[in-house]
Amino acid sequence: MFARRVAVVGTGYVGLTTGACLATLGHRVICADVDEAKVERLRAGEIGIREDRLAELVNEGVAAGRLSFVVGASAALKELERDGAPVEVMFLCVPTPMGVGGIADLSAVEAVIEETRDALPAGCVVVNKSTVPVGTSVRTTELLRRDDVGVVSNPEFLREGSAVHDFLNPDRIVVGSAKQDAAERVAALYARLGAPTVLTDAASAEMIKYAANCFLAMKLSYVNAMAELCERLDADIADVTEGIGYDKRIGQAFLSPGPGWGGSCLPKDTNALLQAADAADFEFRLVRAAIDTNTRQYQRMVEKVRLAVTGRRTGSLSRRRIALLGLTFKAHTDDLRDSPALGVAALLKQAGAELVAYDPGVDAATARIDSSLLTVVDDAYTAARGAEAVVVLTEWPQFRALDWRRLAGEVAERLVVDTRNLLDADIIRRAGFRWVGVGRPQ
Ligand code: UGA
Repeated sequence: MFARRVAVVGTGYVGLTTGACLATLGHRVICADVDEAKVERLRAGEIGIREDRLAELVNEGVAAGRLSFVVGASAALKELERDGAPVEVMFLCVPTPMGVGGIADLSAVEAVIEETRDALPAGCVVVNKSTVPVGTSVRTTELLRRDDVGVVSNPEFLREGSAVHDFLNPDRIVVGSAKQDAAERVAALYARLGAPTVLTDAASAEMIKYAANCFLAMKLSYVNAMAELCERLDADIADVTEGIGYDKRIGQAFLSPGPGWGGSCLPKDTNALLQAADAADFEFRLVRAAIDTNTRQYQRMVEKVRLAVTGRRTGSLSRRRIALLGLTFKAHTDDLRDSPALGVAALLKQAGAELVAYDPGVDAATARIDSSLLTVVDDAYTAARGAEAVVVLTEWPQFRALDWRRLAGEVAERLVVDTRNLLDADIIRRAGFRWVGVGRPQ
């Protein structure tokens, strides 16, 4: 007996993880996507996303008859009906990219509503899981024109690279709706996870998602700015963050300085919140400052490299060969979207540097990176050959385990600029390098 019959529309990170994990929790799930080729690949067990345990859960779900894939949302509804009973919950996990003027583009959500409006059975619930502007549930309800269908906002808080773990071990479940019974039905899907559940109205649920991501972005910008001040006042950011992190109100997580925060979520959501605030005639200066600090952070990393390589703040990087370790926006992913590493690389290139990069998550042969910006190679030693500096941009643990003595034999100058404070400075120094970190004594 399946617990609930669920359709998940959209098989990106959030959709596929939601589908596979809900199937693992015992629900009967059909995932739909408009991309036929993608559905074919998913049926063949090729998930196309680098995510721990996701392929395993997809295969288990399919083998157990709890998970399947179809082309198109209405086909998902039909297939559930053919299976014996109609859909009870339909998740919308379609892309909501930043549209004109930084406002989220909801055309994919609207298209699914159009397509399924007349096929949804009375009493079923439509759930927005994509990050959508506050007010989207109201808009969805208007588009639906169905009083007998509930609309619920149920934002997702999973991180790329640990999507399955985060989904199955959530800090909280947030469910918001104008209809209490619809909200409770969605909350019940997750009952087995035993997480604290916030039952609220739709606008508050939508706001919680932005409030969380913007808070995280502010936390990181604060740490990055604090690291800069530490450099100027001879303090050590590692000790400072440890010292503040023991305060439970602050917490140890999300306190590592870096080249800036990026990815497909924090930049998009901070901008979207600013737009929403603007539209509501409110100037959200804290979030604006977090974004500005982040943009400046890329430049700051370039200044750090410039000073380290040339010995002068105004020295030229023209034709200086620089090895980049890391291109993805964070470790354990192959995602290059809004990657700070690429932002820093673009500025280094503008300054005239010649860049060769290695990233464990990026295949040199298939990398979708403009070759006029940088050359991607398949190992760190090749990247380092003849370089005047090795710049660490992503926190891949593999970089710690490199043979730094061997690297010392490859480079032209033994200099490491570690924008993530990732490496053990003593090991690097013993290999003959000068190590330059962020917010730490040199
Ligand atoms: C973020 C949130 O963490 C998730 O909770 C949220 O669900 C997700 O956005 C989303 O909205 O879908 P994600 O984009 O996967 O998750 O990445 P994070 O792990 O948050 O990292 C974001 C950026 O901050 C990365 O560039 C990372 O390198 C940087 N970062 C993170 C630091 O520089 N220092 C840290 O201590 C942590």
